[in-house]
Amino acid sequence: MSSFILCAVLLWGLPWCVSADRNDRPVIGVLAQEVYEPKPNQSAYIAASYVKFVEAAGARVVPVMINQTLEDYTKLFNSINGILYPGGGVSIISSGYQRAAKIFYNLAIEANKRGDHFPVWGTCLGFEQLVYLTSGKFSLSHTNTSGVALPLNFTEDAKGSRMFKGFPPELMAALASEPLTENSHQWSLATRTYNTNEDLKNFYKVLSTNTDGTVEFVSTFEAYDYPIYGTQWHPEKNAFEWTRPYIPHSPAAVKATFYMAEFFVSEARKSFHRFESVEEENKALIYNHSPVYTGTKGAFEQIYLF
Ligand SMILES: *[C@@H]1O[C@H](CO)[C@@H](O)[C@H](O)[C@H]1NC(C)=O
Ligand SMILES: *[C@@H]1O[C@H](CO)[C@@H](O)[C@H](O)[C@H]1NC(C)=O
Ligand SMILES: *[C@@H]1O[C@H](CO)[C@@H](O)[C@H](O)[C@H]1NC(C)=O
Ligand SMILES: *[C@@H]1O[C@H](CO)[C@@H](O)[C@H](O)[C@H]1NC(C)=O
Repeated sequence: MSSFILCAVLLWGLPWCVSADRNDRPVIGVLAQEVYEPKPNQSAYIAASYVKFVEAAGARVVPVMINQTLEDYTKLFNSINGILYPGGGVSIISSGYQRAAKIFYNLAIEANKRGDHFPVWGTCLGFEQLVYLTSGKFSLSHTNTSGVALPLNFTEDAKGSRMFKGFPPELMAALASEPLTENSHQWSLATRTYNTNEDLKNFYKVLSTNTDGTVEFVSTFEAYDYPIYGTQWHPEKNAFEWTRPYIPHSPAAVKATFYMAEFFVSEARKSFHRFESVEEENKALIYNHSPVYTGTKGAFEQIYLF
């Protein structure tokens, strides 16, 4: 495909360029969620590993706070190039996380229908949130999967999928045979539920499954007609989290982190939303916040508190 480049030298002297089919300055929203025991100014958090995940592949991050107005979320939606729903422990039926996730999901569906590309990524709880939003009901099953690394059981559809088609064959082979994907969840979308739920089946293509020995569940999916992606497992942990012995850090495991991030960010580069001004963008970026070291007492090495 041929493309031409548009550049503008803006007031502060830096050239701002976009090619006609690619945005090389993507900004991705990472959704915050309620902390378990709120304190003043510490009522919501983002684990820093999700921020590093996105940054490692060449995007900047804006925290998406909970409890904002629909108007604020809509404005932010039109300023950013994708959104990531992290893992965590809040309700996918009623929480500030759920409310924001639902608003961005609906805005993303409408935008993508108009040809305005906007990727949505759900990891673990975020994956479960996507399942809930798409099916409109709680469709998860209990599984024994809290703290275990597993190889992916790829489906026939994985090979031609948007997500995996750019992966090196040796990484695909490693993902299929070595326990490189870390699972920390008690709820899963059972394959049997997926197969009997038309809303889910028509919307998502299953790219991998796993089992806890009893229940087979969907571990990776992508939407057929939308840039909406989910992993029940944690691609960000392999490179960035060290507090649990079952998180894999082998060279292939760390490559899995970066190839997943690279794919998501490549989707965000297809979005041309932007902030109204550089000042607005600067004010929104996560660089205005500092992560705190929590690895000695919690599951995450660093978190951002809001
Ligand atoms: C909460 O944050 C605001 C704004 O940063 C600050 O003015 C205020 O002192 C903080 N309150 C506490 C209890 O830390
Ligand atoms: C969000 O709103 C709920 C309900 O009003 C409140 O309990 C909670 O403290 C708020 N959290 C944040 C981070 O604003
Ligand atoms: C859960 O899975 C672990 C292995 O990951 C196993 O050791 C344990 O026995 C299982 N528990 C139950 C109740 O099946
Ligand atoms: C992978 O999934 C297929 C299809 O559900 C199943 O038949 C097979 O037993 C699974 N393999 C493993 C190792 O779980």
